Amino acid sequence: MGRQEAPTRPALPPHKRLALITGGARRLGAHLARMLADDGWAVVVNYRSSDAAAARLVDELAAKGGYARAIRADVSDKVDVATMFASIDQVEGRLDLLINNVGIYQPKPLPQVTPEDWDAHLQTNLSGAFYCCYSALPMLQQTNGSIVNIGYAGVDALRANPHATPYEVSKVGLLALTKAIAASYGPHGVRANMLSPGHLSNSIDLPDDMDAEVPLRRAGTLDDMAQALRYLLSAEYVTGQSLDVAGGYRL
Ligand SMILES: NC(=O)c1ccc[n+]([C@@H]2O[C@H](COP(=O)([O-])OP(=O)(O)OC[C@H]3O[C@@H](n4cnc5c(N)ncnc54)[C@H](OP(=O)(O)O)[C@@H]3O)[C@@H](O)[C@H]2O)c1
Repeated sequence: MGRQEAPTRPALPPHKRLALITGGARRLGAHLARMLADDGWAVVVNYRSSDAAAARLVDELAAKGGYARAIRADVSDKVDVATMFASIDQVEGRLDLLINNVGIYQPKPLPQVTPEDWDAHLQTNLSGAFYCCYSALPMLQQTNGSIVNIGYAGVDALRANPHATPYEVSKVGLLALTKAIAASYGPHGVRANMLSPGHLSNSIDLPDDMDAEVPLRRAGTLDDMAQALRYLLSAEYVTGQSLDVAGGYRL
């Protein structure tokens, strides 16, 4: 269930743009939240179980003079998601950017994948993103806002990934959703794109030989992702695209 964290919080300053980042309490999501706050955005940080990390991030951003709020919601639960957006509508009253950052990744060879593994990836990474887009789009049309879905490098080339098939399928589906939203809502002033990392330096399964897999011969950093997000937010004529931030991985 979405829940407001700080009853004494000051109101969102007028004309301040608001971003919601799902799974934003830690790692990539938190880094993008910090970057947006540095650029003057107000931020709502969604989390599921990282209460303490979300509260620390909100305090950190508020201490720097920004507006931030944390909302707990399981994005795979459509009631939770609807409650989270009702809270944003009520408290902040606007939304300019949705970043669907949640993406579970539990790699295993396809012969070992169970229906439960399949459902977890599709429900969290794809249905969860759809639920958020569904609730966000009416608000984004009011602000000429945009959606950035976090993908995975090479997702637009549709190659086999037998070591993480449910994950791959969820991200390919997310790309199809991104393009369909871009086509349907462009006339209503909303852009939708995908930002697709390869191996980030905090990945749980970095390859032994990075040089052999990544032409630019290093893992990506969270700053590489923030830089690409800044580009996507500024590129007003770009929609329906997946931008690989991957040093050439999976070309
Ligand atoms: N890291 C990489 O190398 C890499 C590479 C390619 C693509 N990506 C993509 O980049 C994105 C972020 O990656 P990451 O490694 O930073 O992610 P992560 O650490 O695995 O997960 C980020 C957050 O997602 C939240 N989350 C998971 N299930 C949720 C749910 N049902 N509802 C709400 N929140 C949920 C968790 O929140 P709580 O902690 O609150 O439970 C977690 O903190 C993902 O979409 C991933 O697929 C990452």
